[in-house]
Amino acid sequence: MTYTRPLPHAMSPMPDFEEQARLDFALALKGVLRGSLREKLPSVYENRAAPEWAEENGRRPQDWREVGNAMEQTDAYKWWSALGRAQQEYYVDVTSAVCIRQLPDLIDRYKKLTGGETKGSLQLSPGLPIPDYQNDVDIHCVPGSYFIELTEDDVWSGARSDLGSFIFSMGKHGALNEDKGVAGAAFVKKRFPDLQVKRVLDMGCTVGLSTLPYCDAFPDAEVHALDLSAPSLRYGFARAQALGKAVHFKQGNAEHTDYPDGYFDLIVSHILLHETSSTALPNIVAECARLLRPGGVMLHVEVPVRRTEAFDQFITSWDVRYNNEPFWATLGEMDLVKPAIEAGFHKDDIFEETVPTHNDKVGGWLGYGAQKARGE
Ligand SMILES: C[S@@+](CC[C@H](N)C(=O)[O-])C[C@H]1O[C@@H](n2cnc3c(N)ncnc32)[C@H](O)[C@@H]1O
Repeated sequence: MTYTRPLPHAMSPMPDFEEQARLDFALALKGVLRGSLREKLPSVYENRAAPEWAEENGRRPQDWREVGNAMEQTDAYKWWSALGRAQQEYYVDVTSAVCIRQLPDLIDRYKKLTGGETKGSLQLSPGLPIPDYQNDVDIHCVPGSYFIELTEDDVWSGARSDLGSFIFSMGKHGALNEDKGVAGAAFVKKRFPDLQVKRVLDMGCTVGLSTLPYCDAFPDAEVHALDLSAPSLRYGFARAQALGKAVHFKQGNAEHTDYPDGYFDLIVSHILLHETSSTALPNIVAECARLLRPGGVMLHVEVPVRRTEAFDQFITSWDVRYNNEPFWATLGEMDLVKPAIEAGFHKDDIFEETVPTHNDKVGGWLGYGAQKARGE
């Protein structure tokens, strides 16, 4: 059996033969867990979990938490869930090891790619405080979340994110993990055909997987990217050089940046919000309102955390319980209109829609955003 591979570039961490075999195993195991085994869970629920719960409680489970209470009693779910956690830890271990083995070489490549004349720029702020919602857990089981720095000019966390994103998404987000950005840019162009984009900001860019597609979608625009993580930004800047794209990367907190008022025509983020908190999210939306010029657009491309069926919502919330994603389910239930209104967006200019995938992402993405009023 052959497995899909990421498109290599001059910054890519390259697995050796044995590491590649382990990555292939991680991909194959995830394929089975998310495929044939996942497909069996609804019948476990209907035929066993729900009837047993109903016998005890005198009614069927109603919301996703009750569905969870019922499902967590079944051996089928326990096995599926335990294997899912084991797979997550395993692929994080393997991707981490690939990047640790090559760290001196990766740092060397970073220095060579960014040492001379560059496209775009990199601005770091050593000592930037990392908010608790990023610092208090090892998000999706990655040691140190995005922030470990073992040595000077460290790029380990960024390299691991690049390789890891491909395995995590089972290659379904494109050969350069670009789907969120390609899909977001296409969505903006279709929904706001008259939007003039001279300056774009991607908040929570990590290594710029979703940022680079905006360079192609808006070739005349200046593209900026912001993140808390220095090692991700170093790697992302070098990756952008390797791929010939001009992006201005900056270390900062999206809740309160130092860009001037009205500086951007378009502000996007990709799977940033679910890794924040119910306090940070309104702050980020308010910051978007400040940074947009009148008529500018904000779009947050998110994992599809909104589910109408309780069973689906329970499965979607697996990551909260077993994959260190504490805010994921809260975001799924949150009123997203309120923070946008409080930030000053007009009710009729706020939207929540599906952003269609341009690759194989099942169900597409959740698109949440607003257009800033043009004024009088
Ligand atoms: C899931 S990753 C985003 C992935 C990336 N946008 C992509 O499409 O590949 C979340 C990123 O958001 C960053 N982040 C979280 N909170 C942030 C904040 N308040 N300001 C800036 N970046 C933040 C983290 O450092 C991390 O790199």
